[in-house]
Amino acid sequence: SEGLAAPVVRLERDGRTAVVTIDRPKALNALSPEVLDALADVLAELAAEPGGLAGVLLVGAGGRAFVAGADISAMAELTPDEGAQTAEHGHAVAAAIEALPLPVIACVDGYALGGGLELALACDFIYATEASHFGQPEVHLGLIPGFGGTVRLPRVVGPALAKELIYTGRQLDVEEAARVGLVTRRFDDREALLAGARETVELIGRNAATAVGLAKRVLVGAAGTPTATATLLEIEGFRDAFRTEDMREGVAAFLEKRDPDFTGR
Ligand code: HXC
Repeated sequence: SEGLAAPVVRLERDGRTAVVTIDRPKALNALSPEVLDALADVLAELAAEPGGLAGVLLVGAGGRAFVAGADISAMAELTPDEGAQTAEHGHAVAAAIEALPLPVIACVDGYALGGGLELALACDFIYATEASHFGQPEVHLGLIPGFGGTVRLPRVVGPALAKELIYTGRQLDVEEAARVGLVTRRFDDREALLAGARETVELIGRNAATAVGLAKRVLVGAAGTPTATATLLEIEGFRDAFRTEDMREGVAAFLEKRDPDFTGR
């Protein structure tokens, strides 16, 4: 029955790493309204209970795709206003990822297309396997990116390449994606990808969680804003770091030539 259907998004906590899995492999993990709602729920849960976590991995189940886009079958009959609501739904999930005071690593193994690439772009950075492909194919459907592709893709790869990709819909393989800065690390296979991402969370977890969260707040807030605004955001974040016990501990530990004992406060 419907009520017993497996969840389309799963959250597992493994030590200080949370793994969020989009689990709809028969549709290449396409972002149906149900998947977007489930992602929003999981992100709300992480925001309410970040306790002890150092980072989040976002993965797609099934080994063929991270996410092959928004669910095309769910869009066929939408009115223009309903289409806009779909875009707003995806944007709300992207905003929730950016608002989470934890690094979120998109772990891409397979297709990251359309809304799938946009979801990955809302994460802090993208790790990918050699089998991965990236693109914004919306123009093939008479659509344009609607989950932030026109906003975040140019910030990451530059406006000219973003235009080329969005106008042609062509896919980047992982080599090109890494060369243009879309993918920050490449891995042979899924196992190596997840191990590498966990290792990065481990490295992040050695630092003051307060500082990592503040850095994310400033970086996300500053994206696309004028230098003067970005500068003020950085100064405010720097001020807030001085409000933390972690900052007192980190500086004292350095001066006392010992390891810091951060508490996340
Ligand atoms: C719904 C999808 C889907 C999608 C794949 N499937 N992508 N269903 N929405 N975005 C389904 C297929 O219908 C098929 O279901 C199953 O997944 C396997 O896909 P195949 O096409 O059979 O696999 P393959 O031939 O290997 O091709 C893989 C692919 C292709 C190249 C990724 O599936 C593809 O081009 N998908 C669409 C990619 C796309 O256009 N994304 C952008 C969507 S628009 P059945 O039932 O037949 O097995 C978008 C806009 C975002 O994202 C903003 C919205 C506001």
